[in-house]
Amino acid sequence: MEYYDRILEFNRKWASDMVADDPSYFERHAKGQSPHTLFIGCSDSRVQTNTLTGTEQGEMFVHRNIANQVYSSDLNVLAALEYAVYVLDVKHIIVCGHYGCGGITAASAAEAAHGVVDHWLAQIRTIMRLHQEELDAITEPERRLDRLAELNVIEQVYNLSCTPVIREAWERGRRPIIHGVVYDIRTGLLKELATRLDGPDKVKAILPSTVAIPSF
Ligand code: CO
Repeated sequence: MEYYDRILEFNRKWASDMVADDPSYFERHAKGQSPHTLFIGCSDSRVQTNTLTGTEQGEMFVHRNIANQVYSSDLNVLAALEYAVYVLDVKHIIVCGHYGCGGITAASAAEAAHGVVDHWLAQIRTIMRLHQEELDAITEPERRLDRLAELNVIEQVYNLSCTPVIREAWERGRRPIIHGVVYDIRTGLLKELATRLDGPDKVKAILPSTVAIPSF
């Protein structure tokens, strides 16, 4: 059976199983959503938001792109962020990177040969330059890429904290709470890199001293 046919067959069975188990399940969902978390992650097929966090439909508002980037010029992530914070009033935002990320590997490749993706990943090369000394000191290539994936998460958390939406939200109170994690595709575990950030003071603490922070 084709993958696509399998998807449709599964869907029919799943929908009827859900109703059998909880007759008002879809009725409740049709009325609206009130997710507690905005999840910003990589598009990678091995990082399945609900599966690895044990969350159900309706719990996470999700934005994914290659290498979980937060660009202040990316209307897509900014719109998702604004809607999640102003309208859905999410309590948490999780920025989730992962080891074995193709985006991280592509960005660190010596030759730029991936087309548009090279433009999309430009920020990762800046992160490499900012942390060159630390990365150069790691001799094992896989471990060096792991660390770059971690530094990328921290940088995206920082970018997120600099957006007007978050700065304004934090001026009103200490939410949403931002977390930066990396998912280990080799073990299935999440590792915390920046946890429970609920104000600019907390962001300062996660940044390496080499990073200039004129806005805080
Ligand atoms: Co990835």
